[in-house]
Amino acid sequence: MNIEFIIDGKLIRAHKGQSILKAALLNGIDIPHLCYHEKLSATGACRLCIVKVNGMYKASCTEPVAEGIDVVTYDEELSMMRKELLEMLLAEGDHNCLYCHSNGNCELQNYCYQYNVEPPAKDLPKNIREVDLTSSQGIKRDENKCILCGRCVKACAEIQVNFVWDFAGRGSHAHLTSDMYEKIGDSSCIQCGTCVQLCPTGALSFQTVLGRGMNWELKKESSICIYCGVGCKIDFYTNKEGKLVKAMGNDEGPNKGHLCVKGRFGFDFVQSNKRLTTPLIKKNGKFEKATWDEALDLVASKFGEIKEKSSPDALMAFASAKCTNEENYLMQKFMRSVIGTNNIDHCARL
Ligand code: SF4
Ligand code: SF4
Ligand code: SF4
Ligand code: FES
Repeated sequence: MNIEFIIDGKLIRAHKGQSILKAALLNGIDIPHLCYHEKLSATGACRLCIVKVNGMYKASCTEPVAEGIDVVTYDEELSMMRKELLEMLLAEGDHNCLYCHSNGNCELQNYCYQYNVEPPAKDLPKNIREVDLTSSQGIKRDENKCILCGRCVKACAEIQVNFVWDFAGRGSHAHLTSDMYEKIGDSSCIQCGTCVQLCPTGALSFQTVLGRGMNWELKKESSICIYCGVGCKIDFYTNKEGKLVKAMGNDEGPNKGHLCVKGRFGFDFVQSNKRLTTPLIKKNGKFEKATWDEALDLVASKFGEIKEKSSPDALMAFASAKCTNEENYLMQKFMRSVIGTNNIDHCARL
């Protein structure tokens, strides 16, 4: 902390090279921002983070702190400029919040409310683009709600390192494009959903939630991904009917908010009516429902037979990354101490 300066009359200490916005946020001072996200490098696209630095207008997400500067984050002029910026963002797109499933979870909407921005005039000419609803199984893309903030571009490049998104066109023709194709489903996207999670509007959204619940109705429960040993922390959202509809990476887990396609979309089995709910034992070539006691007795007797007839080394166990550390410990203990073999392995070695 080697730089001292003033924000709104308060003395702030910051590291050299830090942006004014970052230093402000770290000190509990909120400056409105849309293109900036703490996980991404700064873009400086939306200009909403505008502040006065020694009386000069600067974008605080790209302006580095400097010794002794005097920063003003709110006054009547700045509020007016932010309101105008928001009006332009809203007017350029096609925002009908009532029918937008991001309603209630939209940073643009929050700021429009905060700055009392009226919906744009209905007869304003608009360049309406086709909504890509079906090309990807996981992601819906509505360019009409895109504010060209670039968060998705950076999320894909800097977090997932897949470089799917980029901008094409100039001026009023500027738009987001994926891998040279217009449709996300035709691109090299691996469906991690990181860009969707960081999009501040309803331009990118998850197919799983469409028509299944509005944001304010969803309930959040945190859990751990069951697919691999990384143990990503996930916030699962359920709708009014108690169905799982959305998975978001939780920032507190080892994944720091990131997920892969399995954690992001691999929860449909939970509600599948094809899911086994009791053990099945094959009798006369057909599976029949059994109790857990019957199933476990059968497995134990078969293991005993093999051990008796051949040797403990005729048996082996293959543990799963879907299990907890404790379950995997018990598995090796069982094989070594109960069965009597060191034949134990784990799918993570593959
Ligand atoms: S993206 Fe946000 S501002 Fe736009 S329609 Fe959806 S909720 Fe409203
Ligand atoms: S799709 Fe979302 S994250 Fe990407 S540029 Fe548009 S508004 Fe920003
Ligand atoms: S889902 Fe993941 S891979 Fe696909 S575009 Fe978004 S960040 Fe890139
Ligand atoms: S947050 Fe600074 S320009 Fe967008």
